Amino acid sequence: MSYGSYRIGVLPGDGTGPEVVREGLKVLDAVRQGFDVELEEFDLGGERYLRTGEVLPDDELDRLRDKDGLLLGAVGHVDVKPGILERELLLRLRFELDQYVNLRPIVRYPGVETLVPSHGEDDVNMVVVRENSEGLYSGAGGFHRKGTAHEVAVQESINTRHGVERIVRYAFELAMRPDRRRKLTLVHKTNVLTFAGDLYQRVVDEVAREFPEVETDYVHVDACCIYFLDSPGRFDVIVTDNMFGDIITDLGAMIQGGMGIAAGGNINPGGVSMFEPIGGTAPDHIGKGTINPLAAIGAVQMLLAQLGENDAAAKVDRGIRHATSKMKSMRAAEMGYSTGEVGDLVVEGTRA
Ligand code: IPM
Ligand code: MN
Repeated sequence: MSYGSYRIGVLPGDGTGPEVVREGLKVLDAVRQGFDVELEEFDLGGERYLRTGEVLPDDELDRLRDKDGLLLGAVGHVDVKPGILERELLLRLRFELDQYVNLRPIVRYPGVETLVPSHGEDDVNMVVVRENSEGLYSGAGGFHRKGTAHEVAVQESINTRHGVERIVRYAFELAMRPDRRRKLTLVHKTNVLTFAGDLYQRVVDEVAREFPEVETDYVHVDACCIYFLDSPGRFDVIVTDNMFGDIITDLGAMIQGGMGIAAGGNINPGGVSMFEPIGGTAPDHIGKGTINPLAAIGAVQMLLAQLGENDAAAKVDRGIRHATSKMKSMRAAEMGYSTGEVGDLVVEGTRA
């Protein structure tokens, strides 16, 4: 029997990133059966930038490119001007590795209290397929007459047929997986963004013909926010552009119970994918053992699923459900659990 070994790049990053990644790796180790992992840690993020001026040297990018999967903690630093780490590290990784899918499951785990009392436990179960390689994030645009009274700032949304089609196809294929409900909703703003929105809608209509079993729907992004609160059960798979996907997944995290649980994957189906808790560096929690590691542990679950290690991924899922049913809230510390204890609860649940 062959015994696989995966080379995983670990980017703990800044803030609470290292604390939550540690718990993620603890869980990875607990569920590893029938395969090996070879971890290589990368020192990238605000601390490194402040120390050396380097954000993402090309040789490190090449080493990352060569991995089977990547696990990222968080990047961001109060002493680094906004935009540098975001654009030159996180977005550069997503773009250079062509991780064109940002996959963000929105799941309500057992026992978790959320801010929306009208939601039942089964109401929230969807996945957002966020376009991750273009749109407003492309970086196209510029200033004209900067700093004058006549300044012009242009930020362009780039939407290519190729880019839209590949994300829409990914979403349809996802909707057909056995664990989904075969419903795909396009979220956009076609009534105002009449060029980009039109391209998205046309591509959805065309690709839909190849997937007759998938029911398709359309919702404006503003109305989508209402439905997340009012009737989230109407969503199974959502496909949307980069910017809208960024915004609605923060709201999505809140209807899961909070940022402490929200995991996401930057996926290149034919290359190397990078998984992360979407909550960021959480400066208030640094070094206190109060940050909830479940999002990072969820990222490990997604990483395992992407590698095809479905049994191990299912074990992590069981572990998370075991932990949430004890914790009752995503604010782990308020419930009397430290970061490490939450990790231990998950490990305990993976063995059950
Ligand atoms: C996210 C983050 C990033 C994004 C930032 C940090 C660039 O908000 O992963 O959702 O906008 O994509
Ligand atoms: Mn975001």
